[in-house]
Amino acid sequence: MRRRSVLAAGAAGAAALLAGGTSAEAAPLAKTAAQAASAGDAPWTSASLRDLAARIGLRVGSALIPQDIETPSYAAIAGSQFSVVTPGNAMKWQIVEPARGSYDWSQADQLVSFAHANNQLIRGHTLIWHNQLPAWLTAGVANGTITSAQLMELAHQHITTEVTRYRGKIWQWDVCNEFFTDANPSGIDQANWWIVNAGPDIIPNAFTWAHEADPNALLFYNDYNIGGEDGSNAKFTAVYTYLRQLRSQGVPVHGVGIQGHLDTQYGWSPARLRQDIEQYAGLGLKVAITEADVRTFVNNATDQVPTDSLSQFAQPFEYSEMLKAALAVPECISFTVWGFTDSDSWVPGVFAGEGYAGIYDVNQQPKAAYYALQSDLALAAHGAPRRVRTYTPRS
Ligand code: XIL
Repeated sequence: MRRRSVLAAGAAGAAALLAGGTSAEAAPLAKTAAQAASAGDAPWTSASLRDLAARIGLRVGSALIPQDIETPSYAAIAGSQFSVVTPGNAMKWQIVEPARGSYDWSQADQLVSFAHANNQLIRGHTLIWHNQLPAWLTAGVANGTITSAQLMELAHQHITTEVTRYRGKIWQWDVCNEFFTDANPSGIDQANWWIVNAGPDIIPNAFTWAHEADPNALLFYNDYNIGGEDGSNAKFTAVYTYLRQLRSQGVPVHGVGIQGHLDTQYGWSPARLRQDIEQYAGLGLKVAITEADVRTFVNNATDQVPTDSLSQFAQPFEYSEMLKAALAVPECISFTVWGFTDSDSWVPGVFAGEGYAGIYDVNQQPKAAYYALQSDLALAAHGAPRRVRTYTPRS
């Protein structure tokens, strides 16, 4: 009985917050939690995302950049709310090898130290991607001084050097990032820089080399539009088919990262996301939501007030639905947001006129989306029927 009343109060309180409620309106929720605490339950309204998620075998993470954790108030949230860290840029090839043969690990090391100090795991991101490559590499390929065979060997060296340096410290590596087209049917993008210049073997090779350098790291393929964003599900199908093939060939790919960059102006199917996660899990893969954010149109990039009042409801709703899809499948092991405050989000700089994509506002205050995630995790931790397998894994 006690548990049921806590859950009922939780749902009502969350509804008040989702309906634009203030903290005053949420007061009954806090009181009920205090009563529950005196009766032996933790007061979940003051529990961190990481603590709630820990009870149900999920890690909650954020992308971080070194500059942001130099602000103490920001670092306090980053250290207390999350149990896994993704370096947002610090481990990309452009940053770690700015001149050929000359390495700069300072930013990556700073984030690794931060994670260790806060008992956090690390998602390494990302070894092979067509963006944020060093200028010496792209220029050398463009002017023919780096041949296709040499490029493959440089990729081998890059992966071996970086993965070996952090061996034993990385939980999940995003080995290959964003290789598929958004077309229907989708497939490996034949115009992708790596495919053009090194050939399609770069993908299985990258996984093999990463596995040799750190046999205990979970190796992920990471992409966007593969979790219910695409009405046809064409990109999901192409990635699924490809990963099934890689696994049947014995390539060491252990997981798929669903980036989860949503935008309230587009359609999106949470039911499809859940099915997609289940299907990947059915291949024997782990799944991670790796870069969750939900953007919408805003007044300006500084204040980031949504221009459509409906967005204030759609934004936390989509976060909540993403998390619930993740919670529904036990093989989904982490849920990471791509920066947690609107002020450190990549969105305003990349998507003209958009913002409000995070779970904290521009003043580092939690938004409705934060409370939605918190109550979803609390419900799951208190025994709601989630994280129970509802499908038959394929052999
Ligand atoms: C973004 C970073 O957040 C930006 O700071 C950078 O300028 C560009 O890259 N998909 C990915 C991430 O896999 O690496 C990207 O990160 C966002 C899209």
